Amino acid sequence: MLNPKIMVGCLLLAASFTSVSFAKNVKVTSPNKALVVEISDEGDVLSYQVSLNGQRILKPSKLGLLFREKAGFAQPLSIAKTQSGQLDTTWEQPWGERKFVRDHHNYLMISLKTGDNQDFDVSMHFKVFDDGFGFRYEGQGSASEEVAVIDDLTEFVFESPEQTQSLWIPSRAWNRYEFLYENTSMDKIDRVHTPATFKLPTGEHISIHEAALVNFAAMTLDQQRTGTLKSDLTPRFDGLKVLTKGDFKSSWRTVQVSKDAVGLLNSDLILNLNEPNKLGDVSWVEPGKYIGIWWGMHLDVNTWGSGPKHGATTERTKEYLDFAAKYGFDGVLVEGWNLGWDGSWFDNGDVFSFTQSYDDFDLSAVSTHAKSKGVRLVGHHETSGSISNYEAQMEEAYALYQKHGVRQVKTGYVADGGNIKRIDEKGIARKEWHDSQLVINHYLHSIQRAAEYQISINTHEPIKDTGLRRTYPNWISREGARGQEFNAWGSPPNDPAHTVELVYTRMLSGPMDFTPGIFNLAFEGLDAENRVQTTLAKQLALYVVLYSPIQMAADLIEHYEQNLPAFQFIQDVPTDWQQSRALAGELGQYVVFARQQRDSQDWFLGAITDDKKRRVEVSLDFLPPGAVFEAQIYQDGKDANWRDNPYDLDIIKRQVKHSDSLTLNLASSGGVAIRFKAL
Ligand code: NOJ
Ligand code: CA
Repeated sequence: MLNPKIMVGCLLLAASFTSVSFAKNVKVTSPNKALVVEISDEGDVLSYQVSLNGQRILKPSKLGLLFREKAGFAQPLSIAKTQSGQLDTTWEQPWGERKFVRDHHNYLMISLKTGDNQDFDVSMHFKVFDDGFGFRYEGQGSASEEVAVIDDLTEFVFESPEQTQSLWIPSRAWNRYEFLYENTSMDKIDRVHTPATFKLPTGEHISIHEAALVNFAAMTLDQQRTGTLKSDLTPRFDGLKVLTKGDFKSSWRTVQVSKDAVGLLNSDLILNLNEPNKLGDVSWVEPGKYIGIWWGMHLDVNTWGSGPKHGATTERTKEYLDFAAKYGFDGVLVEGWNLGWDGSWFDNGDVFSFTQSYDDFDLSAVSTHAKSKGVRLVGHHETSGSISNYEAQMEEAYALYQKHGVRQVKTGYVADGGNIKRIDEKGIARKEWHDSQLVINHYLHSIQRAAEYQISINTHEPIKDTGLRRTYPNWISREGARGQEFNAWGSPPNDPAHTVELVYTRMLSGPMDFTPGIFNLAFEGLDAENRVQTTLAKQLALYVVLYSPIQMAADLIEHYEQNLPAFQFIQDVPTDWQQSRALAGELGQYVVFARQQRDSQDWFLGAITDDKKRRVEVSLDFLPPGAVFEAQIYQDGKDANWRDNPYDLDIIKRQVKHSDSLTLNLASSGGVAIRFKAL
């Protein structure tokens, strides 16, 4: 519940008015007036343009959708009526980067008329905040009639593409969202996923994404004429983009805007454009830390399938549960416990059972052991992309896990892009993209079904995050980018810039289950391809930098027991925060975050850099005045560097206060992790 004191502080200004006008240009500004979005129907074509502090940041860009059954925005349209107003409220997150989120925006609703003066049945809704804006299409239709969207005309037109820096990954490609980021001038873009992030030559930063993607198709961005990014919706198996009935709402097309890089990281725009919690009491959603029978499979020490190297044995699970209890972890993930992994599991989507275990894994025995230790088993369902096989077993599978005290299930959809397998109503197998409408609906279906069993879902190979964790807080985390696993395979490993680039792109969409904390950074030696290209200190810093309410300590447990002093930071760092602040950073180069532990006085700081070593001065003015803290600092040693001296780590303690500042010395692909313990 929202603290009543906070409620008093929240002013709800519903100063809305309706006006009938013949305006050709309408404007909506941010509450602080710096950001201005101007919508025009000049030439009977609907478009918008945007400025920040008087500087134009998006040129006139078209708006609109096309439909199969009826004329869409490719007909003369003009603005008929507008309705505008302001909202200022604060809402509470059950878990998150911050407990209280302020939603302060001006809105504008626009209804349209056609060239022959008829009401047009799609209207536009804009919301402009200090940290960016969103807009969406809202269509009216009859419940019995199909509406097929065949194209999205929305554009984002940049002034100087050759001078605009961009961070992006390709869309509609085999590896889903799991690519290394490209850091290029904008004109080099072909078709990309969102969030895609840009730094303009005038210094402003922009990130384009979407919010509240439900029963629609994902927006990817296709560069047409140089400088024009056009929305390219991911098609269904039949080539349509969206097929629905009755009224519909597109996702919000979002543009986060800031004068500097860190402003993007402190934005709540995506969450503010999602609907409030629909699940009611979610006290059963449990943030926390976990270990797992996992990395061993990626290193090929163990197997998911049966045989002498089978990872998911009752004995090993009990050993992991004991370790978890000893070092204060909440859960143990066990992959490869269920029938179906033998042979090439990538191709086994149709044969996975989500209820039957291998003979050497006794679900009852391990869950009884887990209970006796006060730890939970973390469930695992790999679908290999066969979503119909999973849907058919979902209820039974969640019920089984619930019976055994499981509160969290990691799901997986390992299949190449375009190869999700869905059996349709006629029994015909259809191939889909991970981000097409029907697969988007599948992911949400799993969240809603799991909620009935008080289970939270951590989706791997997911649809990208669009902030639906606000509406469904049991969507606790997801992958949706290149995670740690690539470092085990070395195909190629994540480069030194990767996690910094994630911060300014993927992480803007929401929590990521990156699985940090590898201590044995080079399992096959520092010269091997399959190694982690960071220092040890950077692995620790990732717990603060890459936000997720569930964080894994991903390495084999024996590697932690070999370095207990460094492991102390993973034991101490929480996963749920009272508040979070990005303090410093540059796009794709480095970042410093400070976060206050939820319901505690303690603060944590994490900083990471790309392959350049750097010195960053940070003021500790985020600490409350008057209090004294012990800073427990885990930093790169003097000679540390990721390539040949990654383990050089200094752990130092000193007293600090609000008026102090700290110099952070980051090695090449290094980092620093600090706990500020209130004394
Ligand atoms: C892909 C996931 O990202 C990874 O963590 C998991 O181990 C495999 N799928 C197997 O399910
Ligand atoms: Ca993956």
